[in-house]
Amino acid sequence: MALSTPPLLRVRDLVTSFRTEHGAVRAVDGVSFDIGPGQTVGVVGESGCGKSVTALSLLRLIPSPPGTIESGSIELRGMDLLRLTEREMRDVRGNEISMVFQEPMTSLNPVYTVGAQIVEAILLHQKVSRREAYDRTRELLRHVGISSPDTNVDAYPHQLSGGMRQRVMIAMALACRPALLIADEPTTALDVTIQAQILELIHQLQGELGMSILLITHDLGVIAEYTEHVIVMYAGRIVESGPVRQVLGRPRHPYTHGLMASVPRLAARKGPRDKQARLARLPTIEGMVPDLRHLPSGCRFADRCKLVIDACREKEPELLPVGSEEQFARCIRWQEVGA
Ligand SMILES: Nc1ncnc2c1ncn2[C@@H]1O[C@H](COP(=O)(O)OP(=O)(O)O)[C@@H](O)[C@H]1O
Ligand SMILES: [Mg+2]
Repeated sequence: MALSTPPLLRVRDLVTSFRTEHGAVRAVDGVSFDIGPGQTVGVVGESGCGKSVTALSLLRLIPSPPGTIESGSIELRGMDLLRLTEREMRDVRGNEISMVFQEPMTSLNPVYTVGAQIVEAILLHQKVSRREAYDRTRELLRHVGISSPDTNVDAYPHQLSGGMRQRVMIAMALACRPALLIADEPTTALDVTIQAQILELIHQLQGELGMSILLITHDLGVIAEYTEHVIVMYAGRIVESGPVRQVLGRPRHPYTHGLMASVPRLAARKGPRDKQARLARLPTIEGMVPDLRHLPSGCRFADRCKLVIDACREKEPELLPVGSEEQFARCIRWQEVGA
């Protein structure tokens, strides 16, 4: 990012932990990143790597207990969200930063119509009449591609398809024109065609509204298509980050490399052309994300890494520039990744 554009969001050394019977575990462990105005930043990693905890920390929605944001800072236009009162934070949520979750059914209230819920979201943050809020709601539903908004405004969540419910969630998230939209696996629960439609919709709305987006996914294909900058998370740590073209063009962490090899669309560039053959051969990274309660002493990826040497187990590598000023990786053998 050019130095002349100050970031919209600046996260530094964020640590979020959960109390367990074995002591506190750090689900997010020293995470730092920036999101520029209008920029789309992707966060990718397998399940349990700390993606959602990162997102929820930004909104201070970590369930407490057992969770706590232990340290770090989260600055929105220079204002540290971790220092705000709960009341001030409520103004930030929805107004400045909105979030779309994976499963809209759990975020929509089944006993109210979708229209009523969007109206309430608008009234909560803006000084407009109920009538105006209602008009805006129909306009929003139209904007997110809900068919017959004048009728569907009165539908209950269960009367809509999964894709339509997700559109409603997006309408609600956009009701107050947030500066930042966090989308946490917004399409994971949907079938493939609908997934693409929802991602296209978010992309199109971003173009129109100019908001920044933090797009969380376990799918590097989605990262490749929809984001400019990527953060790869593993066991609570950022293991690689940088401009998407650079990171996917030349991954410098074996974990990123392994994730790429398991995505058909990305692997296809190098692998055999025949789709069946490609799918049959598609490797996944062997092994599992380590239990946060029993982390290895050195590199957290060491047990699954093909490039592992003794030095990797002695000390955890730092996140350092790898070959360019913008790409960072946490690997002492970064020069050999993919060789
Ligand atoms: N409510 C919770 N209570 C205890 N531990 C939690 C809770 N939520 C998350 N964690 C811990 O944080 C880790 C990361 O979770 P999460 O951020 O949801 O992963 P993902 O990358 O799949 O979104 C989990 O593996 C778990 O150890
Ligand atoms: Mg998650």
